[in-house]
Amino acid sequence: MAGKEEVFVGSIDQGTTSSRFLIFDTAGEPVAVHQEEFTQIYPNPGWHEHDPEEIVRSVENCIEGALKIFEKDGHSKDSIKAIGITNQRETTVVWDTTTGEALHNAIVWTDTRTAGIARELKAQKGSDKTMNICGEPISSYPSATKLLWLLKNVEKVRKVYEAGNLAFGTIDTWLTYKLNGGPEKNIFVSDPTNASRTMFMDIRKLQYSDEMLEFLSYEFDLKKVHMPKIVRSADKEVYGKLSSGPLKGFPIMGCLGDQSAALVGQKGFEAGSAKNTYGTGCFLLYNTGDKPIISTHGLLTTVAFDFDGKPVYALEGSIAVAGSGVKFLMNNLGFSQASHKITELAESVPDNGGLVFVTAFSGLFAPYWIDDAHGTMFGITHHTERGHIARATLEAVCFQTKAILDAMQKDSGHALKELKVDGGMSNSALCMQTQADLVGIPIVRPKMRETTALGAAIAAGFASGVWKSFDELREVNTVGETVFEAKMEKGESERMFKRWGRAVQMSKGWLA
Ligand code: G3P
Repeated sequence: MAGKEEVFVGSIDQGTTSSRFLIFDTAGEPVAVHQEEFTQIYPNPGWHEHDPEEIVRSVENCIEGALKIFEKDGHSKDSIKAIGITNQRETTVVWDTTTGEALHNAIVWTDTRTAGIARELKAQKGSDKTMNICGEPISSYPSATKLLWLLKNVEKVRKVYEAGNLAFGTIDTWLTYKLNGGPEKNIFVSDPTNASRTMFMDIRKLQYSDEMLEFLSYEFDLKKVHMPKIVRSADKEVYGKLSSGPLKGFPIMGCLGDQSAALVGQKGFEAGSAKNTYGTGCFLLYNTGDKPIISTHGLLTTVAFDFDGKPVYALEGSIAVAGSGVKFLMNNLGFSQASHKITELAESVPDNGGLVFVTAFSGLFAPYWIDDAHGTMFGITHHTERGHIARATLEAVCFQTKAILDAMQKDSGHALKELKVDGGMSNSALCMQTQADLVGIPIVRPKMRETTALGAAIAAGFASGVWKSFDELREVNTVGETVFEAKMEKGESERMFKRWGRAVQMSKGWLA
């Protein structure tokens, strides 16, 4: 429309294997994108680290790269009204409040080095109470045991802790702190969707729980560690402004952990809606409305979003290995150098040939929570070829999703009518058809699958007034959906799932 002011929202999407910056228009379409991968550090089996400074640099490069495209296409940066952040969750960074410098590599959410600490904590203090306070069981997955490991094992960290200057943060906190210029501005915040992944937050009060901090204190006093202030996921003021680069002075107004952002980007605003994101891992979030449901079937309780002080909750089923399983085939087993080729390989065989691959590279997460499970292939014969391994790798995520949906139905008392999907592996039609076959409900895949980044843009867009209500977003990203309907006979999918269950039993009890 002539004369109508163009309006855009920027979105920093800091994931497990890459960082991105996307610029969305008000129809929810990305008009510019830049992506950068960064180093994955695996110092020991089961360990996984990131360099926190490299993460910040990668984000800055992405902002610069996307902005170049944006301006080359004739847009003005002044039309960007706000910036949102979405990020890999749980990944733990510690730094010195006086210098703003990270004291160790970040320990990534997939890292299992803290399984021993988790076991000791359970043995010493029992495992009953944590679910009801913070929504999570003790495991190597949340940030808590990662912080304890750093305190216990890294002298530099302990010294700064003893001096009273140790800051803890998940990636959202680290990024807002650094992008605002570090100690000088000292913007030190986290939103409830991220804070609910630490074990430190009371899931009902959205504040740190003294009881949890005491419970987790182990040999240290966690109240001595500086923890970020927990603020709403959408806010005009609290997230500060970029302190350098081409968008210097532009405000950050939204922040959501990546899985919550994907739920928002899929417009899962109503209780009963759900989405499954097949990223590095795979995460199914089911919106349970304004009340947290505490799972008794292996799911986590998490904050879905808090835009206005009225938090919305979700039940979450977390799967540690999804796209990283495909990467394992490419990087470790030399199958191919392109992920779509893995799908082609999987399509080269009519079925899994009796092979089940429990891709438990980080133990098994929901709904099993087996921290000593290791990757296990079950059913190998002379008939087995690479196509079967590729197929079994895709199927592993579909089986775990089926187990999570079963658990969700038991916890919530409701069966899902359909499941919205996104993330890299959802590009595979074979994988999505298998998913539909195993869960027996339609799988709905949007055409524009940048839903995680869109979710963060929506949070920032709400705070800046670009969008004012959920209603305004109803038409966003609705055109061109693909629906996968279940085609397999129920008896066959049940037989496959039973074999999977047996393979899960065989994957446990391995010493690291
Ligand atoms: O909980 C970990 C999760 O936030 C990481 O997401 O997209 O990197 O698999 P992703």
